[in-house]
Amino acid sequence: MDTKLIKEAAEIIKNSKHLTAFTGAGISVESGIPPFRGPQGLWNTIDPTFIEISYFQSHYEDSWKDIKKIFYDFFGKAKPNAAHLALAELEKMGLLKAVITQNIDNLHQDAGSKVVYEFHGTASTLLCLRCNERFAAQNFSFEEMPPKCPKCGGRIKPDFVFYGEGIPEKAYRMSMQEATESDAVIVIGTTGEVMPACIVPQIARQNGAKVIEINISRSALTYGTTTHFLQGKAVEVMSELLKEVKAL
Ligand code: APR
Ligand code: ZN
Repeated sequence: MDTKLIKEAAEIIKNSKHLTAFTGAGISVESGIPPFRGPQGLWNTIDPTFIEISYFQSHYEDSWKDIKKIFYDFFGKAKPNAAHLALAELEKMGLLKAVITQNIDNLHQDAGSKVVYEFHGTASTLLCLRCNERFAAQNFSFEEMPPKCPKCGGRIKPDFVFYGEGIPEKAYRMSMQEATESDAVIVIGTTGEVMPACIVPQIARQNGAKVIEINISRSALTYGTTTHFLQGKAVEVMSELLKEVKAL
């Protein structure tokens, strides 16, 4: 790791007036959750059609078989890692104002982060499409498949954004506001290829923010948006960065 770059990044963080974080699947890889793209990516082994909203509506049972397998049998057991914890600690220190995440795994909240905007919603709650009641996924019994609302028997949908759906209104609005107000952003583990999420760090950059990017490899943001590229795994780089910030 480049110690000079880490020190520079730590100084930017320490001197920032409005620091935010923008995270993607890469931050949760070391918690055991596979990313979507790249060699180990989910979309290499499974076709994402099952989470297209029109497919979900017309093939409710088939769609749920994969949703349960991918997002509930396995994801639900993941724990936050040192990179999630470092962001929660930066917030506690009064340095980090908000986390904007594309992830639906709830690991930022599990790590203790308080201000989290979930750009793609969350897998941790389920919505009844008939009576609008919400259920915690943790306590939901998936024994009966496809699942039915325990209250009214209606169809159930995870609260994350399916392909073909819009971004949740509040998360979108707050993310854009945070992006505009930021004078520094830490971008962690995202290809920066998915619209409209990827405009969050771009807007921040256009408004003059420093953009510190942590990724094992270059992304669509690295040239053009990133000002400080820290190559490496999220856990290792964030642990080092937090140590440097504390030492200042
Ligand atoms: N540390 C840091 N970065 C990592 C690590 C790691 N340990 N492992 C992988 N990465 C990086 C990869 O190099 C890649 O740039 O994380 C990124 C993961 O990319 P994607 O899987 O495309 O994840 P993301 O950018 O969050 O995807 C955006 O796509 O399908 C949709 O809705 C889904 O929110 C998701 C969106
Ligand atoms: Zn219901």
